[in-house]
This record gives sequence, C-alpha cells and structure tokens, in this order.
Amino acid sequence: MMSELDAAAPIGVFDSGIGGLSVLTQIRRLLPAEALLYVADSAHIPYGNKPADYVVARSLAITRFLAEQGAKAIVVACNTATAVAVAELRRQFALPVIGVEPGLKPGISRSRGGVVGVLATAGTLGSEKFQRLISTHGQQRRVIVQPCHGWVEQVESGALASQETWELVASIIQPLRLQGVDTLVLGCTHYPFLAPLIRELAGPEVEIVDTGPAIARELQRRLDALGLLRSGTGTGGEHFWVSGDPKSSGMQLARLWRPGCPLERLSAGVE
Ligand code: DGL
Repeated sequence: MMSELDAAAPIGVFDSGIGGLSVLTQIRRLLPAEALLYVADSAHIPYGNKPADYVVARSLAITRFLAEQGAKAIVVACNTATAVAVAELRRQFALPVIGVEPGLKPGISRSRGGVVGVLATAGTLGSEKFQRLISTHGQQRRVIVQPCHGWVEQVESGALASQETWELVASIIQPLRLQGVDTLVLGCTHYPFLAPLIRELAGPEVEIVDTGPAIARELQRRLDALGLLRSGTGTGGEHFWVSGDPKSSGMQLARLWRPGCPLERLSAGVE
C-alpha cells in the first residue's frame, strides 16, 4: 500500500489543539513545497489528563480521517498521543507515522551542570513509553520530571503573556531552578509557545530543548527514503480542521499561523 502513495499527496498532522502548530511551523520551514493538513482535536482537549484508551481512540479516528483526505504520512504532533497511541497507529495504518517524544537524550547531552528538567503532561510522564525513555537515557544525569498543569489551557486561550500565565509558569520554573536545573526539555508541543516566558523566568544560562526542528528533519528523512518528498519550488497549501468551536480556534490560528487560513469543523463521526 505504501508504494501507491504519491509524493504530491499532503502530510497529515494532528494534536489535541493548537500546540502542534509549533511542529507544523518547523515542517513548513523545512519543507515549503509540501501540502499540509492539520487537525486540532479541540473538543477533546486536554489529552494529558485523559485515560490512555480515550487518547488512543481519538488518535485512531483522526488518523483515519487524515488518511481519507489522502495523507501520505502522519505526524503525531503531540507527545501525549505519541506516548500512548503511536504503536497502535503504526499497527493499523500502512502509512509512515512520525511521533514526537520529550528530547531527553539531547537534553542530557547539552546539560553542563547535570540536572535536567522534563516539562510535559501527566499523561506523557506516566506512560510506559516515557518510563522506557527514562530508563534508557535518564541514568547519566539527574532528571526531574515535572507535570505542568494548566499550561496547555493557557496556550489554547491565547494568554501567552498574561499575569496568570506568568504565575503558573513561575510556580514551576522557579522551584526547578532552586533544584539546580540547567536544562529544560519541552515535552509538550504547546510549551514552545511559552518559551519566551520560560526563558525570562529561567534565565539566559538555562538550555531549552524543543524537538520541533528534529521532528521536521525526521519527517524529511522518512519521506525521502520512501521517494515521497514533494520537490519543486512552489509553496504547498495548508488546510485546518477542528473538532470544537471553529471561532476560538480560528482566532488562535490567525495569531499563531496566519489570518484567513482555511478552517473547517470535523465532520460527523470524527468530532
Ligand atoms: N500538545 C500535547 C502534547 O504534546 C497535548 C497536550 C494536552 O492536550 O494535554 O502532549
């Protein structure tokens, strides 16, 4: 089935909300000619505090939808969905499926002081996949895992620099700094949108690790290996779907992507 895929076909990307736009931005930067489809599962956000089987069911429904739209590859632009669902997606779909995971390995190699903080949802940190990552790479340094309750909601609401967001982010970052953290791994695709605030609170000497650029490179490598890279100098288009209220997602899309991009509500059965 994979050989029937066409390089001109679009790439399907999804997240629980608009967080995956941090990954989509990197994909667009690296692969300007590709057509991109994006689903924000905003009616079901946040994934991070939902049972794993709920997130698996949502990931399967959205991947099926993206495959029906002709996607040649799927990017799970969500650490939580990757942690619990990527194996099942790969089992059920004959498409390349690229997932994201907290950049623990790069975080450990960049850490000079030897204390690494991993910021992610409770769902990601509690998953077996993350436990395996920690036992493979976490022995060489002190690793502090930190769920960041409420951060996803602040990003979704567009309050990237409000007083409430500042206090929420400070309540996590300041104690981590007191524990000697010198490297912070952004293990949720919503968090890069809070990076300026995290940077301000953590100080310039702290390394911030975002895996978005590495995911885009991995996607490029996989498509290239399968002969599915779209070449040419043209600019690929984008199309967006949401499962929740298109109005509020539309406002955030306009701010974080660009105004006036095509946005639809997911059709019955997927919403
Ligand atoms: N952006 C997501 C992640 O990377 C999901 C956050 C959520 O819905 O809780 O984990």
